[in-house]
Amino acid sequence: MAGLRRLSYFLLTGFATVVLIIIARTVMLSYQQTAAAPCKPSDLDYIHADDAVRKRFQTAITFETVSYDIGNYNREELYKFLQFILKEFSDVFSHPLVEYKVIANYSLLVSIKGSDTSLKPYLIASHFDVVPATNESWEVPPFEGRVQDGYFWGRGTLDVKNGVMGSLEALQFLLKQGHQPQRSFFLAFGHDEEVQGIDGAQQIAAYLKSQGVQLEFLIDEGTVIVKDAIPGMRIPFALIGVAEKGFIMVELSVHTSAGHSSMPPKETCIGIMSNAVAKLEACPMPVVFDSSGPVREMFESFAPQVPVYLRVIMANLWLFSPIFIRILEMKPSTNASFELQPLSLSSTRAKRQTSSLPRRGLQLTIEYTPVIRLKRF
Ligand SMILES: *[C@@H]1O[C@H](CO)[C@@H](O)[C@H](O)[C@H]1NC(C)=O
Ligand SMILES: *[C@@H]1O[C@H](CO)[C@@H](O)[C@H](O)[C@H]1NC(C)=O
Ligand SMILES: *[C@@H]1O[C@H](CO)[C@@H](O)[C@H](O)[C@H]1NC(C)=O
Repeated sequence: MAGLRRLSYFLLTGFATVVLIIIARTVMLSYQQTAAAPCKPSDLDYIHADDAVRKRFQTAITFETVSYDIGNYNREELYKFLQFILKEFSDVFSHPLVEYKVIANYSLLVSIKGSDTSLKPYLIASHFDVVPATNESWEVPPFEGRVQDGYFWGRGTLDVKNGVMGSLEALQFLLKQGHQPQRSFFLAFGHDEEVQGIDGAQQIAAYLKSQGVQLEFLIDEGTVIVKDAIPGMRIPFALIGVAEKGFIMVELSVHTSAGHSSMPPKETCIGIMSNAVAKLEACPMPVVFDSSGPVREMFESFAPQVPVYLRVIMANLWLFSPIFIRILEMKPSTNASFELQPLSLSSTRAKRQTSSLPRRGLQLTIEYTPVIRLKRF
């Protein structure tokens, strides 16, 4: 009897402790808010978007610097855009603290000398190219540089001529004030980022390496301000990307003996291949949710903004991550991100090796998108 009583006492105490921890974490995280003070036009580093700044950005959008495929991009427009940049920011490029180098004819590396050269430099990356866009698929012509309803419209306004023009405007502004940064830094603008950056970013990296440059850190374009992307989050929020999905290509090929379309064999290449792909799709990789790194911290920072039932879960992922995974799985957008699916079939490209019925061979390239596991840093 006494043993039983002691056991239930321990169980009750244990249960009460867990409940206490859950409540404490929920309450604690409910009040964890950091509000940044809004910018004021009177701030010393406030850059006014005057007519000249706006016009420069609008003009930048009009260059059709489209990348189509590896090695296939609009060279003429890239070249014109680069000349435009060099001319519009001539004060920057002729400044004694600034050096620049055109790389691979269309990419640009700018270096700004800091006052303390013992510090490792950092790098801010953007790119000149954009993905294709047609008038038909857009509400407004994508390369007109239109301003409508108080917004800039066009391809590249977010990805990422805003980064190109923004960093150059900021640099120009600071240099004009006579500012010299303590730490040196680079601005790096590739010209084929949308098609893997082999000719641009990779050449810039090779150049930096050849110069023995080691970076302290690098800031890339990152993500955008999103709405309705996380269950329960009703306010827009900025996601800070600390890793990026890559992809692997898997090639499957089928070879069968020759036949004739008038006497089809029991199994054709297409049938065999379709079966293989269906099998792959039917076996998704197991869910991976690392609830200890930056992903957990991200959800914890959402906690004050979500309804109470979700707040309890997000504040206690140490216990509730299995339930949270189910919630994330309910929406395709969250099912595919946040490390849920280490691999997912993202596209296929088939190549038929014979011109008539696929008698002999069929080759299929499957693109898998793996998810990088994040580590605290
Ligand atoms: C640089 O680009 C321009 C425009 O595409 C082209 O006319 C020129 O030949 C290129 N120069 C080199 C060295 O590739
Ligand atoms: C797209 O629209 C713009 C602006 O109206 C026009 O100048 C351009 O020629 C159009 N492009 C095509 C391919 O029709
Ligand atoms: C989420 O992804 C998994 C793995 O691909 C899939 O099996 C599941 O059907 C998806 N859930 C929803 C609701 O789409």
